[in-house]
Amino acid sequence: MIDPISGFSKLTKEEKIDWLSSTYLKDSQNAPQILKQYWNPDSSLQQLHEEFTENTLSNYYLPFGIAPNFMINGFRYAIPMAIEESSVIAAASKAAKFWGKRGGFKAEVLGTQKIGQVHFIYSGEKEKLVNFFRKVKPELLEAVEPLVRNMKKRGGGVTGIELRDKNEALGGYFQLHCTFETKDSMGANFINSCLERFAETFKAAAEKHEAFNATEKDIEIVMSILSNYVPNCLVRAEVSCPVEDLADHGLTGEAFAGKFVRALKIAETEPFRAVTHNKGIMNGIDAVVLATGNDFRAVEAGIHAYAAKDGKYTSLTHADVRNGQFRFWMEIPLALGTVGGLTGLHPLSKIALEILQKPSAEDLMKIVAVAGLAQNFAAVKSLITTGIQQGHMKMHLMNILNQLQATPEEKEAMVEHFKKHNVSHSAVEEALENLRS
Ligand code: MEV
Repeated sequence: MIDPISGFSKLTKEEKIDWLSSTYLKDSQNAPQILKQYWNPDSSLQQLHEEFTENTLSNYYLPFGIAPNFMINGFRYAIPMAIEESSVIAAASKAAKFWGKRGGFKAEVLGTQKIGQVHFIYSGEKEKLVNFFRKVKPELLEAVEPLVRNMKKRGGGVTGIELRDKNEALGGYFQLHCTFETKDSMGANFINSCLERFAETFKAAAEKHEAFNATEKDIEIVMSILSNYVPNCLVRAEVSCPVEDLADHGLTGEAFAGKFVRALKIAETEPFRAVTHNKGIMNGIDAVVLATGNDFRAVEAGIHAYAAKDGKYTSLTHADVRNGQFRFWMEIPLALGTVGGLTGLHPLSKIALEILQKPSAEDLMKIVAVAGLAQNFAAVKSLITTGIQQGHMKMHLMNILNQLQATPEEKEAMVEHFKKHNVSHSAVEEALENLRS
């Protein structure tokens, strides 16, 4: 039985590693050395990374790559992507090149509204609560004035507070449903600070509100928190071209477009396919979100909720053919920042934003949405033509060779060999064995 440890957070990272080695890693003698191998030799850079979170032992690398040639609204971007999965960046680059020759991507921000809620319980006459809310609303806005001053200077702030009755779902449950404009910051800390101030002010004012009886005065604040569901912080990305420009792999443009549209219809109607289809979109989205120091968990949660907004999980992308023109598009909610949070702290996020020409949050929304759309185009294109494995396994070859501890000379020979053969784990194993014997 392993004893609980107290004061773990106070230990130095060497002491934490020692404890871990003697408790959980007794059979992995080189584990401490591997953990230490990933420390950055620049101690201040190492400290910066350690302080992003708690109980840090080491750093966990992800490849930081680039997908060039993305023409978006007439500007050619090189998009930084942080992702470990082979073939994602290659697929994005291929789709960028393909659409670059066909007019590029169009992207448009449809809204930037952020949302936060104070969830509370009120037991009493609803009419009295409505009157109280009307009276207290200016007081709520005044209470957050010191918090919103800087945001207001940047053109943002609180854009609305509504009282919402949720009694039908849960007895006594009401909300202050609040909306915000947070300009170039993602705004999580700003929103949560405003919400907590609203909650305190609301509760304190209720205690003094003369029209309430004792029970009504005793409003219970359950929680105050932003929502990662932002259906009005929305961006649209689109590509289009004449159908004949889609001819590919021996398919006429018309046949390609027909297969593509049908593949999307399947993702629209079949949730098992929709989840994988959308996962491919998230390959592109998460990689850019992560590279630019944004919160990919928030983005994931919000986008998947949006994919189920009509009560059934469905495809995020859509395609059609009208009057000989193929159109492929997507609308997704994205709460992103280009100032604040990790964006200005992580040296690689800073470089990622510089590569993207220091975009505003709205620009970044467009870029991220385009990366998702491009990724989906590449995946569906492979699926309806060669199948996914051909391209994917080619890109995955290096991982297999590394697993099999191939030398640089062996790798070179294997890359040459698999230019003419299909890649699979067993095929690589066999070819490497032959080479070695
Ligand atoms: C793999 O990471 C993503 C795909 O499965 C997406 C898709 O099936 O559309 C290839």
